[in-house]
Amino acid sequence: MNDILVSFDNVTIDYVMKKQSLRAVRDFSLDIEKGKITAFVGESGSGKTTVVSALLQAISSPGKLTQGNVYFFDGDNKIDVSALKNEQLRKFRWSKVSMVFQASQSTLNPLMTIYDQFYETAYYHDAIASKEKFDERLNYLFDLVKLDAKRVFKAYPHQMSGGMKQRVMIAFALLLNPDLIILDEPTTALDVITQKYIFNQLTDINKNLGKTLILLTHDIGIVAKVADNIAVMYAGSVMEYADAYTLFKEKKHPYTRGLIEATPSILKSPEEIQPIEGNPPDIRNLPSGCPFHPRCKYCMDICTEQRPPLQKIGDEHYISCHLYANNTQKL
Ligand SMILES: Nc1ncnc2c1ncn2[C@@H]1O[C@H](COP(=O)(O)OP(=O)(O)OP(=O)(O)O)[C@@H](O)[C@H]1O
Ligand SMILES: [Mg+2]
Repeated sequence: MNDILVSFDNVTIDYVMKKQSLRAVRDFSLDIEKGKITAFVGESGSGKTTVVSALLQAISSPGKLTQGNVYFFDGDNKIDVSALKNEQLRKFRWSKVSMVFQASQSTLNPLMTIYDQFYETAYYHDAIASKEKFDERLNYLFDLVKLDAKRVFKAYPHQMSGGMKQRVMIAFALLLNPDLIILDEPTTALDVITQKYIFNQLTDINKNLGKTLILLTHDIGIVAKVADNIAVMYAGSVMEYADAYTLFKEKKHPYTRGLIEATPSILKSPEEIQPIEGNPPDIRNLPSGCPFHPRCKYCMDICTEQRPPLQKIGDEHYISCHLYANNTQKL
């Protein structure tokens, strides 16, 4: 694999509650390539937000990393993220990794202008050398996300459209010049034209500034053109990982195939859109063996008994499916 920026090493995350514990992420292992756009794709509840939150020590309560490690490679320095404390963690967040959370547009403070919100954040992170330098940086960032700085600086969140607010959030994520930006459902609730616009900007940020991006989405169709690599998640685990071209061309895992076939497109007739049979898994009560087996048309006896390991079946192509045991191609 090329240069790695982040390594999820056998990560398990549980939401520990009084009556029961809920395993949201299970034995999750994945390397994130530096300088690339990696998309995590999976149905609602598949654990996308939970697993990347571990990268910022930001798993929502009562979630806990109960197994494994998340490493961030800062030059020759291998940082064990869960070992970061107080000041180290504060510096790591935003200046190494920043995250635009799901529906984060609504986290903008309704009572403050956009300029003041940026100033406050930079001030908190001790990142203001002088007001002139700060203004210069902000103008640069707003230019980058194609927002009219003069107008938006003075605006309050309610004076902006959803697309504008999302671009403000992207500028926010870039404020302290991190290496990695995580965007959780960056275009959900935006119209298709604004979606395309945002993705173009994200691609520019990746290509021109060399930032590594992780995008989380339930919609495999919208990241098809943008992502370099795609990790398909189901019930808290990686089902398939490959570069986007290979994943779409080969769609080896029955779940990947299901997701792609369920995606509407203007080239498909309504009959060609095939929803995945059955219901999303209840992670409080997962079936034995492969978690996808109750919905899989290729289910074999072994699938109901043993969980398939994530194995390599090609150049940086990984799959968790008994159909490919010993690399024998069956689909
Ligand atoms: N704070 C919490 N307390 C208890 N359970 C939680 C909490 N946050 C998430 N979960 C559970 O963990 C599982 C994974 O949730 P997560 O939000 O990571 O999924 P997701 O893939 O990001 O879904 P979505 O596409 O809806 O954002 C779900 O079953 C969810 O109900
Ligand atoms: Mg989520």
